[in-house]
Parts: sequence; C-alpha cells; structure tokens
Amino acid sequence: MAIIHLDNNHSLLSLILLVGLSSWSTFVDASSYNVVDFGGKGDGTTDSTQAFQTAWTNACASTKKATIYVPRGRYCLQNVTFSGPCKNKAIIFRIDGSMEAPSDYLVIGNSAAWVVFRHVDGMTILGGSLDGKGAALWACKNSSYNALCPTGATTLEFSNSKNVVVNNLKSLNSQMFHVAINGCENVMVKGLRVSASSNSPNTDGIHVQSSSNVTIINSKIGTGDDCISVGPGVSNLQIQNISCGPGHGISIGSLGKDVKEIGVQNVTIKNVVFSRTENGVRIKTWGKPSNGFATDIVFQHIVMNNVHNPIVIDQNYCPTHKGCPGQASGIKISNVTYQDIQGTSTTKVAIMFDCSPTNPCIGIKLENVSLTYKNQTAEARCNNARGIVVGQVQPTACL
Ligand SMILES: *[C@@H]1O[C@H](CO)[C@@H](O)[C@H](O)[C@H]1NC(C)=O
Ligand SMILES: *[C@@H]1O[C@H](CO)[C@@H](O)[C@H](O)[C@H]1NC(C)=O
Ligand SMILES: *[C@@H]1O[C@H](CO)[C@@H](O)[C@H](O)[C@H]1NC(C)=O
Ligand SMILES: *[C@@H]1O[C@H](CO)[C@@H](O)[C@H](O)[C@H]1NC(C)=O
Ligand SMILES: *[C@@H]1O[C@H](CO)[C@@H](O)[C@H](O)[C@H]1NC(C)=O
Ligand SMILES: *[C@@H]1O[C@H](CO)[C@@H](O)[C@H](O)[C@H]1NC(C)=O
Ligand SMILES: *[C@@H]1O[C@H](CO)[C@@H](O)[C@H](O)[C@H]1NC(C)=O
Ligand SMILES: *[C@@H]1O[C@H](CO)[C@@H](O)[C@H](O)[C@H]1NC(C)=O
Repeated sequence: MAIIHLDNNHSLLSLILLVGLSSWSTFVDASSYNVVDFGGKGDGTTDSTQAFQTAWTNACASTKKATIYVPRGRYCLQNVTFSGPCKNKAIIFRIDGSMEAPSDYLVIGNSAAWVVFRHVDGMTILGGSLDGKGAALWACKNSSYNALCPTGATTLEFSNSKNVVVNNLKSLNSQMFHVAINGCENVMVKGLRVSASSNSPNTDGIHVQSSSNVTIINSKIGTGDDCISVGPGVSNLQIQNISCGPGHGISIGSLGKDVKEIGVQNVTIKNVVFSRTENGVRIKTWGKPSNGFATDIVFQHIVMNNVHNPIVIDQNYCPTHKGCPGQASGIKISNVTYQDIQGTSTTKVAIMFDCSPTNPCIGIKLENVSLTYKNQTAEARCNNARGIVVGQVQPTACL
C-alpha cells in the first residue's frame, strides 16, 4: 500500500485517498466472470453447460483471484467437469440461482458425477442449489425393467482437490450420492442442506473417501441412504452439528470390500440429532479378509429420536451373500468411544456390537449412554467386543 505523507490538517483527505486506493487495488486484484456474459440463461430450459465451462476456463486461467457468478434463475446443465490446476488459488463460485440436471435422466445417468471439480487447489462454493432431478431414475430402479436403468450420477464431486470450502449449498433429489469427496485434503462443508425422498436408493448425503482433514458442520440432511458415509482411506474427519433424517444414519463403511485397503483414523462425530433413521452411528465392514482398520473414532453428544438401530458395529456385511459367507472380517476396529448418547430406539436391541471372530473390536468405551425402547430398558448385544463402561450406561453393556 502506498504511504501518503500529509500533515494533520489533511488527515481527511489522506483517509479518502487510502480508501480509494484500497478499493482500486481490490478491483485490479480480482476478476469476475458472470455465466450470463458467456451465454448462460437462467430460463429453466436453455442448456448452459458451455457457458459455465467457459466461465470456469477463464477463472482458472486468471492469475488474480477470480469469482464466477451465477445470478438468480434456473440453469440447465449437462455433466460438466471443472478441472485444475488453476493459475490462482482463490476461485469463488458465487451462486444465487439453481443448477438443474436434464429432466431425461439418461443424459447424465451414465456419468459417474454430474458436476465435478478435479485437481483444484483453493476454491469456495458460496450458496446456490443443485437439483439432480433423480426421481424418475429412482422409479426406474424400482420397476420391473430395472436392469436397463443407468447407475446414476453423483450430483457434486470433488476429486484430487485441496483447500475447498462449500458454504450454504442446497442439494436436491440426486440420482446417486449428493456430494462425494474423494482424494481430497482440507475440505470444509458447512450449512449444507440435502433433501431427497426417504425411499430413494443410494442417495447418500455426503460420501468421503481417501481424504484427510475434512470438516462437515452445521448441516441438515434428509435422504434415502446414509446421511454421511465414510469410505476407506479417511483420516482427521470432523463431523459436527448435523441433523440427520430421514436416512440410514452416519456410517463408517462399508470397509473391507478389498483385500488391500487404507484404514480410517481419527474421526469425530458430535452434536448430531438423528430423527426416525434406520441406523444412528454405525461402523460396517464386509465379512471377508482385508488389511484395513478403523481406529480413534469418537461419537459424542448425540440424540436419537426413534432410531431403528441407534448404535451398531456390523462386521458381517455381505449384501448379496456372495463371496463372503462363512468368512470373518479382516478389518481391525479399535479405540471407539461413545459419549453422551441419549434417546429412543424403535427396536429392542439399541446397541449391537457384532465384531469379527478373528479380529475382535478392542478399546470400545461407552460413557453416559441412555437409550430406551418403548419407554423401557432396551438391550445390548455383543459378539467379540471388548472395552469399558464409564458413568451411567443403559442398556447395560455387554462388553
Ligand atoms: C459426460 O459424461 C460422459 C459419460 O457419460 C463422458 O464421456 C463425458 O466426458 C462427460 N463430459 C464431461 C464434460 O465431463
Ligand atoms: C417402489 O415401489 C414400492 C411398491 O410399489 C413403493 O412402495 C415404493 O415407494 C417405491 N419406491 C420408489 C423409490 O419409488
Ligand atoms: C484443515 O482444513 C482447514 C480448512 O478446512 C484449514 O483451515 C486447516 O489449516 C487444515 N489443517 C491442516 C493441518 O492442514
Ligand atoms: C447448527 O446447524 C444449524 C443448521 O443446520 C444452524 O442453524 C445452527 O446455528 C447450528 N448451531 C450452531 C451452534 O452452530
Ligand atoms: C484429528 O483430527 C483433527 C481434525 O479433525 C485434528 O485437529 C487433530 O490434530 C487430529 N489428531 C491427530 C492425533 O492427528
Ligand atoms: C484413542 O482415541 C483418542 C481420541 O481419538 C485418542 O486421544 C487416544 O490417544 C487413543 N488411544 C489409543 C490407545 O489409541
Ligand atoms: C458423564 O456423566 C457424568 C455425571 O453426570 C459427568 O460428570 C460427565 O462429564 C459425563 N461425561 C460425558 C462425556 O458426558
Ligand atoms: C413413559 O413413562 C413415563 C414414566 O414412567 C410416563 O410418564 C410416560 O407417559 C410414558 N410415556 C409413554 C410414551 O409411554
């Protein structure tokens, strides 16, 4: 900043000059790209994919920090990939409007993901809404001709990226996962709202895998599958202040699908309210050999409102009963803490630790847990689970 020497009588003039200079420098330090200037139309019908792609190419090539602006309106997009590396580390995607998938689910249904960010370092998505228009595909999957349906696209994917912030985004009716974070570092998701029908298949709210230092906070997720699912290779994950329901709860796993797998370490899940979900907090592993693990996991300050299976470790996952029956999970589960978990279960078994006979769960800690079933004491069941109980724990633990 230029220093201007003036005597006291001129301090007002000096202030005006300084303010003028600093806004001028903001102007030259940043560039802005409005998708409408590149031919985007928020009319709900015109395909705006090319306009978004061009706005990205410009923002990514800018050596100054860059804002891509999406004004109010409904923008139709086909599958689109925003690739880095970029020339700057400060791209802001400011969205006042909504982005909508084509109504024909076949257009994006064979792509792994609809909106993809790849190899990006330093980016923020601010606001906006993404409508995956998934209902027709869910119905296809639920019909007698389901073998002909495409798998469906994840709505928003970040892959091999770092220093990413997603703030105040809304995601509706995804064909598959709503948000996927894969191969990333330093990702912050806050104020996310996910909404899809409770009977929509595989519509996980957020899926994280092969990533470190991911934070998911202050979000509300209601969907047909897991609110949040955590795959192999995740470390230093923090999940806080989430409301989950409808949905299948928060799940670490499925782990151990492959023989060689990177483990899951240092995951904290706290201040979560589950309402009428199928599971609450779950760790799930395939019942077959693997060298993976899950360790240093904390579940804290959790409320269960009429949850089907509030606390679950299931190491015998074998969905189609192929390739695993009769085998034991190789995943080593250790150091899992459950602290201050209160509420109601809609089944009698509120705590189920079904661990691997060859790799028992060790270092499980239950502290201040109170779960009831129909206003009465619920039950806990354990197989191959070891650990300790601290404070008040109801149902009586079976460790
Ligand atoms: C869109 O998806 C198809 C696969 O369905 C893929 O071949 C194509 O490269 C994708 N386009 C973009 C821009 O990602
Ligand atoms: C699938 O079909 C069943 C039976 O017709 C129905 O109850 C259910 O709601 C349907 N699910 C979806 C996602 O359409
Ligand atoms: C973790 O990510 C946050 C942003 O989400 C960042 O502020 C912090 O510096 C990162 N920590 C490390 C150790 O990289
Ligand atoms: C928790 O998240 C909700 C949004 O789901 C937000 O309104 C609320 O302020 C957050 N609470 C705290 C303590 O940050
Ligand atoms: C665990 O992860 C948190 C971020 O969620 C991080 O701050 C902390 O340093 C990590 N602990 C260890 C031992 O790596
Ligand atoms: C268990 O996990 C807690 C919290 O992540 C950590 O502080 C502690 O060091 C771990 N203990 C062992 C024995 O690994
Ligand atoms: C468990 O309850 C005791 C007694 O109310 C309290 O002192 C302790 O802080 C609680 N621990 C947790 C982790 O909530
Ligand atoms: C649960 O039990 C309490 C006290 O025993 C009673 O006041 C309450 O009405 C019961 N609630 C239900 C839903 O049965």
